[in-house]
Amino acid sequence: MRASEGHVCINGDLCPAAEAKISVFDRGFLYGDSAFEVMRTYAGEPFREREHLQRLQGSCERLLIPVTSSLESWSRDLHRTIAASGLPECYLRVMVTRGVGSLGLDIADAHEPSTLVFALPLHLPAATIYAQGIAVGLVRVGRTVDGTAAAGAKASNYLASLLALHEVKQRGCAEAIVVDGSGQVAEGATSNVFAVRRGQLLTPPLEAGILAGITRQTVIELAERAGIPLSIRRLFPDELTQADEVFITSSVREIMPVVRVDDAQVGDGKPGRVTLRLMQAYRELVGR
Ligand SMILES: Cc1ncc(COP(=O)(O)O)c(C=O)c1O
Repeated sequence: MRASEGHVCINGDLCPAAEAKISVFDRGFLYGDSAFEVMRTYAGEPFREREHLQRLQGSCERLLIPVTSSLESWSRDLHRTIAASGLPECYLRVMVTRGVGSLGLDIADAHEPSTLVFALPLHLPAATIYAQGIAVGLVRVGRTVDGTAAAGAKASNYLASLLALHEVKQRGCAEAIVVDGSGQVAEGATSNVFAVRRGQLLTPPLEAGILAGITRQTVIELAERAGIPLSIRRLFPDELTQADEVFITSSVREIMPVVRVDDAQVGDGKPGRVTLRLMQAYRELVGR
């Protein structure tokens, strides 16, 4: 992604992405003390905008970042930034940081949250990746907000996840699947995970401390509409390796088939029937 394209809106002020700057004293920079959302446009319109902005509001509440702006003002900034970018389709990021404070940890030292909106070129995975499916690697890792009152918040500190992704990439995998402290499957580093076993769709519950993925929810709705049996329950790693089908979901990657979990081939090593059906339904929903 080249920063020379696209626009950023910082507390209401628009600028070209290459010129966007914030204070080194912003706690988002110092501590990852911020929440964010990633979405994309279809035909220039942000998909599931309201759901994303509501989730951002919820993340800020969990992180005790006092939100002073309304969803409507975030939405206005979002649309202004998309328009300023002039891009046919955008990768969108909305971020709320606790703002500038002293160097100490005390959150009482920062009073004015900063809101940043990014509208950048959208780079999508190649069609061959969807046709062939990806490999994922299991990683036992705890993330920053796991087990805290803020669990489930989309907090910006992704260090544990990015190191997990780096680790599995060395093993030839394109995504890390997080196995939590209790040995159960949680979600991907930046995705939710689904398995299909004997025609039934399986995915871990929100109580597993996962992010309430907007794409995950969309897939659940599409499965219900298509009459695909669904069970939202805890999943063990061997259920993934022995599944007939596995896929991950996220706003940018949509539904991406998984054909290998570490050394184990999933099903017949090709994207499965249920996965393909849901991919088709998702594409119809977003108008592609
Ligand atoms: C940890 C985590 N889980 C799940 C997702 C997928 O969420 P969504 O479908 O809302 O993009 C993401 C997206 O970045 C994520 O970071």
